[in-house]
This record gives sequence, C-alpha cells and structure tokens, in this order.
Amino acid sequence: MAYFTAMFGAAILLGFINLLMAKEDTCDLYATPGQSLTLPLAYERLTNSHILRWVHNNTVIFYRQGKVSTGKPEDITSNGSLVLKKILFSSQGIYKGHVLHPNNTSAKTWTGRLCVLDKVSKPQLSYSCDFSSMAVNLNCHVTKPEGLVFSWTLDKETLKSETKQTLSISFIDLKAERSFTCDVANKISKASSDKVRPTCPPLLSFKRQTVMAVLAGGGGLILFLLFVICLWKMSLLSLPTLVLTIWFCRSLS
Ligand SMILES: *[C@@H]1O[C@H](CO)[C@@H](O)[C@H](O)[C@H]1NC(C)=O
Ligand SMILES: *[C@@H]1O[C@H](CO)[C@@H](O)[C@H](O)[C@H]1NC(C)=O
Ligand SMILES: *[C@@H]1O[C@H](CO)[C@@H](O)[C@H](O)[C@H]1NC(C)=O
Ligand SMILES: *[C@@H]1O[C@H](CO)[C@@H](O)[C@H](O)[C@H]1NC(C)=O
Repeated sequence: MAYFTAMFGAAILLGFINLLMAKEDTCDLYATPGQSLTLPLAYERLTNSHILRWVHNNTVIFYRQGKVSTGKPEDITSNGSLVLKKILFSSQGIYKGHVLHPNNTSAKTWTGRLCVLDKVSKPQLSYSCDFSSMAVNLNCHVTKPEGLVFSWTLDKETLKSETKQTLSISFIDLKAERSFTCDVANKISKASSDKVRPTCPPLLSFKRQTVMAVLAGGGGLILFLLFVICLWKMSLLSLPTLVLTIWFCRSLS
C-alpha cells in the first residue's frame, strides 16, 4: 500500500513537473513584428466603476479606477481586452489582465505568454550526388533554422517521417526523375522552396549489366553507321542496298 502511495505521489509530481516545463517554453499567443493583436480578457459586464489593470512582465502598463492613470484609454476594448497596436520584439513576455469589483474582490483575470517571431523566409533547396553512399543529399537552406519545422514533398506526396533539414534518398529509390520541395514553418508562417529535380549521372543506369548493355548496344550502332558511311563513300549504296543492309543487320542481331 505504501508502495502504491509512493508511486502515485511520484506520478503526480512528474506530471506537475511536466506541466511546469511545458508552460515554460510554449506560448499562448504568437505574433510577428508590426502586427496588432488583442489580448482577450473579454469581461462583458465591465463598467467604469470596475478597477481594470494590465501588467506586462510585472510592470503595470494600464490602470483604470474611475479614470485612466496608466496607459491610454484607446488601448482597451469595451470588455477590458488589451489591444497591442504595433508589436515589437520587446512586446513579448507574460501579460496579466485583472478586473476588480468596486468592493476590491476579483471579477476576472487573464494570463498569457506572448511570443514574437519573424515570418519564415523562402528556403533554398539544393542537392548533391554522393557516389560513395549512392545517394542524393538534399539540403533545405534557411538563414535561421532554430525552432523551425521542416517537411518534405516528393512529387506531390508529403514524406511523413522526414522532418529534418536534410534528406537523403538512395539512387535506387529515385528510379525516375522526381521533383522535391521542402517547407519550413514556425507558429505564425510557412514557406515552400522551389521544385528541384535531382539528376545524378548514375540515375540513368545504376545496374552494371544495364551499363554493359548500353555500351555494347552503342558500340554496335557506331560500327554499323561507319559501315554504312563506308559503303556510301564507295558509291555502293543506293536506296535498295541500304534497305537490304539494314534488313541483313537486323536479321543478324
Ligand atoms: C471583446 O470586445 C472586442 C471588441 O470590443 C470583441 O472583438 C471581442 O469579440 C469581445 N470578446 C468577446 C468574448 O465577446
Ligand atoms: C518581457 O520579458 C521577455 C522575456 O520573458 C523579454 O523578451 C521582453 O523583452 C520583456 N519586455 C519588456 C518590455 O520588459
Ligand atoms: C480597494 O483597494 C485600493 C488599493 O488597493 C484602495 O485604495 C481602495 O480604497 C479599496 N476600495 C475598497 C472599497 O476597499
Ligand atoms: C463584491 O461585489 C460583487 C459585485 O458587485 C459581489 O458579487 C460580491 O458578492 C461582493 N463581495 C463582497 C465580499 O462584498
């Protein structure tokens, strides 16, 4: 019984720690510089006799008790929400909105963490043929990869298990010429690269036998053409002899 109690306690403690950690690096709201955003306190029964207070990073940025003593009246909506007009990187952090009844008891609170992120820019997709590993290595280049989510599309299909900045596909799996795009996304935006169709020379013939067959076939053809040119030069070639020669060679092979 004591064992179960201890396990139960540990489980609750772990859950609590997880909750704290999750709170630490997730944001309730995301915005990009220059954008405007309303922080939704949304207290519909707000009157002028209520006390309304907004705090950013423990600094009071709005206070109204009868009249506004901190901040600007136009930064607040009729239900007490705070309007951030032109967001800057310094606008991020923790916001707390608080409405108090005239008797100083709490009516409504709102707390949230705002994160400010740049929009992602279009990634540049490049590739290289790695003959030692017989693979095409694709790289989805962005200037700041931190915190971005990468995804890959082959022809029109998303490669669900590929979420890294690089992608490696073996020549064998690449049979025909195929087109790749990579996408980058953060919490507020998404961008796709241009289409890239990797062509590495071994893609044409990646089996030794195929190479030999192509070489042999090509060699035979060249010999045949030399033979025809020779006959031509010797004026031995009229249209009927050409047809006969071709028929003769085809029946040989
Ligand atoms: C609070 O007020 C703003 C504008 O005054 C409005 O856009 C918003 O929808 C309101 N919130 C709710 C929950 O009604
Ligand atoms: C508020 O705190 C965040 C970090 O939590 C910081 O990035 C931001 O610059 C701070 N803003 C102000 C105005 O203090
Ligand atoms: C509410 O609190 C403020 C300061 O915290 C004080 O000035 C005011 O007199 C209080 N009002 C009531 C009704 O207790
Ligand atoms: C304070 O005022 C609110 C709204 O007027 C009321 O609902 C609440 O019961 C009051 N609380 C006390 C302790 O007087």
